[in-house]
Amino acid sequence: MAGTKDIVILGIETSCDETSAAVLVNGKELKSHIISSQIETHRKYGGVVPEIASREHCLHIKNVVEQALTQAEVDFNDLSAIAVTYGPGLVGSLLVGVAAAKAMAYAAGIPLLGINHLEGHVYANFLEHPDLEFPILCLLASGGHTNLILFKGHFDYEVLGKTRDDAAGEAFDKIARALGLGYPGGPYIQKAAARGNPKAFNLPRAMLEAESLDFSFSGLKSAVLNTLNTARMKGEHVDINDLAASFQEAVVEVLVAKTKRALAKLPQVKTLALAGGVAANTLLREALAKELEGGDIRFVYPSLKLCTDNGAMIAMAGYYHFIKGNYASWKLNAVPGLNL
Ligand code: KG4
Ligand code: ZN
Repeated sequence: MAGTKDIVILGIETSCDETSAAVLVNGKELKSHIISSQIETHRKYGGVVPEIASREHCLHIKNVVEQALTQAEVDFNDLSAIAVTYGPGLVGSLLVGVAAAKAMAYAAGIPLLGINHLEGHVYANFLEHPDLEFPILCLLASGGHTNLILFKGHFDYEVLGKTRDDAAGEAFDKIARALGLGYPGGPYIQKAAARGNPKAFNLPRAMLEAESLDFSFSGLKSAVLNTLNTARMKGEHVDINDLAASFQEAVVEVLVAKTKRALAKLPQVKTLALAGGVAANTLLREALAKELEGGDIRFVYPSLKLCTDNGAMIAMAGYYHFIKGNYASWKLNAVPGLNL
């Protein structure tokens, strides 16, 4: 049971294929965190099927919210506000969360908080590292986005670099599919790569113009696909583990190099934060940690459960919106193409 002065936020996330809800008290104590994943449902199609995803959210949202409230030992009367992802994401999936959050907040007579999913990923870091100090450089790498972002304060940020084509996670997913590994690609590539030689294939690293902090992964993706197709046409065997390891190393090398480039331009920044599903990648974490070893930059990343989509990060971003009085209107709608 939460006290009357506590700020109790229910966070709801339904932007893609996870139905998730979490209760966060005073921006610190995560009282519950429920994630209902649809991965098994979509796996046989090799990726998320939007229509199925929204139907699954409809089936699970009520239970997921009820479980989150029960586990946190709170009811609607204890809640200060409801935070919900309103974009970016799949429109049908987003709509389920937005409609549910709106109805519940309206009925409970409490504010509704509209959260940008990408900001949510970054705010996952504040859950486990509440003492983070601005300015913070954030490398956000997910299934749909790859960005270098300078955070000067809460919700006060500048996008320094973005992908010009595929997102890093998208590249992992497409290559995993081409290699006959599973969905989602990141964890499967990582597993295969652990058994392979990252030097086996010489793959391109798109660094773009010398000063640019933008990313490009489509050339790398094409190079991997060409390697596979050429070998198949010649009837040659390709070691999938070696190719996965070489691909993973190429992605990580570019992410690390661009992050280093950004840090070199920003001597005032003493904190680097990773965010998004690709932040779960062990090689990326280790490579960045190695680069920063012995320096004065604090390097943080969320625990594995908080890297991929979850309601806790939405509740965390919601907490800061709430204390700023930044409430959403009852007209809040899903914005599938919402950006930073
Ligand atoms: O943040 P997220 O859960 O959803 C989006 O907002 O897109 O990110 C999902 C992405 C997928 O592309 C998935 O393959 C990737 O994160 N991912 C990983 C790993 N775990 C998940 N990529 C590389 N290594 C991983 N261990
Ligand atoms: Zn996400």
